[in-house]
Amino acid sequence: MTAPSPLIIALDYPSLDAALCMADRLDPARCRLKVGKELFTRSGPAVLEALHGRGFEVFLDMKFHDIPATVAGAVQAAAEQGVWMVNVHAGGGRSMMEAAAERLAAHRLTTHLIAVTVLTSMEAADLTEVGVGGGVEEQVQRLARLARDSGMSGVVCSAREAEALAESCGEAFLKVTPGIRPAFAAANDQQRIMTPSAAVQAGSTHLVVGRPVTRADDPMAALGAIEAELAGR
Ligand code: C5P
Repeated sequence: MTAPSPLIIALDYPSLDAALCMADRLDPARCRLKVGKELFTRSGPAVLEALHGRGFEVFLDMKFHDIPATVAGAVQAAAEQGVWMVNVHAGGGRSMMEAAAERLAAHRLTTHLIAVTVLTSMEAADLTEVGVGGGVEEQVQRLARLARDSGMSGVVCSAREAEALAESCGEAFLKVTPGIRPAFAAANDQQRIMTPSAAVQAGSTHLVVGRPVTRADDPMAALGAIEAELAGR
């Protein structure tokens, strides 16, 4: 592929060994990898070193949410370990996001800093329970605009939200979308799914794909099938 791939493969494993086993079956020229809370909490920076050593760019999906100084420090720590992308919760507010973005800029760290708006596991009733009226879409828009205004380079969002977010926050604002299911794959526990090409058409800039690749008998063949679908083949 000539352009960098939009594909980010989720390494959702409970051990370093299992994660590296999968990484060794993937090609760093054709995808990036996402390391989440479980894997990082178990394996620590060793997993980042091991994946970087294999040539992968890494999205460290830690969804930081704390006071500004703490989040700025955590984001700096991630960036100094060379991660390509890291995220925070937009619900942490403007000063938290600004502190994180300013810290990266002050240290000339070019890691992409993005925000989670509303977790896709939350519905309107869950939001009401934590004091947020107006529904999911309104809250997603509010937090995405706040994230953009606070220096974030994008958001994690559902592909279904990508089009509206492109209108409100611009096309260059990154839209990193999970819940992707190629036609050949099972939905698993994802409720609202979209195919890779539909997600890109809707404005997603990056696609997070887990089980359709990591549980495939031949992960690179599954990745190739997704690339082919994206290329319209
Ligand atoms: O296996 P699957 O493709 O469903 O994995 C999707 C990945 O994206 C997982 O790591 C999951 O935690 C993450 N994710 C998600 N939905 C969100 C945010 C993150 O599925 N709203």
